[in-house]
Amino acid sequence: MAINIQSLYKSYQNGDEITEVLKDVNISVKDGEFVAITGPSGSGKSTLMNIIGCLDRPSRGSYQLAGEDISKLNDYKLAGIRNKHIGFVFQSFNLLPQYTALENVELAALYSKVSPRTARDKARNALAALGLEDRLKHRPNQLSGGQKQRVAIARAIVNTPSIILADEPTGSLDSKTGREVLDIFKDLNQKGKTIVVVTHDLEIAGQANRIINIKDGIVQEVPQ
Ligand SMILES: Nc1ncnc2c1ncn2[C@@H]1O[C@H](COP(=O)(O)OP(=O)(O)OP(=O)(O)O)[C@@H](O)[C@H]1O
Ligand SMILES: [Mg+2]
Repeated sequence: MAINIQSLYKSYQNGDEITEVLKDVNISVKDGEFVAITGPSGSGKSTLMNIIGCLDRPSRGSYQLAGEDISKLNDYKLAGIRNKHIGFVFQSFNLLPQYTALENVELAALYSKVSPRTARDKARNALAALGLEDRLKHRPNQLSGGQKQRVAIARAIVNTPSIILADEPTGSLDSKTGREVLDIFKDLNQKGKTIVVVTHDLEIAGQANRIINIKDGIVQEVPQ
């Protein structure tokens, strides 16, 4: 599913103060690409990811996902697109601590309006695909960092999205576990998923098809 961003701006207003975070951003990502986004802290990477992931809207400019203009959709439609097409992975896993691995993934599956039984089956399959069939009943605090991130990836793929967005997915992991997580993303990419990953890890960025750098809200393609 293609991503097309043109002349996009994002600013935040706090009282009288307006912070312009993204300035005239132009990005297009083709179906099936693996793109890395790099840039210093505070440069607007997460802001951009949240917009791409339909969690937030641009202040100005256009964002087209699969040819549809996202900036014009209401919250309800936006949530629908997000659930259907996009899977998110975060640095700090964002798992619900009171639920088991299976329940965390199952909850995401239920958002796609399937029966509880189907949701459970889909969750089980997603976790098994990530080698976690023997950790279904563990809660997040009973899992290692790498296992938590694999549960989070299972949650991200359970509704078979075509795009996976990951914001510093290896930032909380040691380098060996980080490499394993990277291999999972590469594998998902080979199976046809479009991947956009924010990272400051040059090894990860180097594995992508393209690197996009953001500095002070301005986006530049890094030649490879
Ligand atoms: N809701 C908000 N209200 C006001 N300012 C915000 C808001 N969200 C982000 N910002 C500001 O926007 C800028 C970009 O933030 P963002 O989180 O996108 O940076 P980042 O590149 O992801 O940084 P990091 O690498 O540290 O995660 C920062 O200066 C931040 O303070
Ligand atoms: Mg960030």
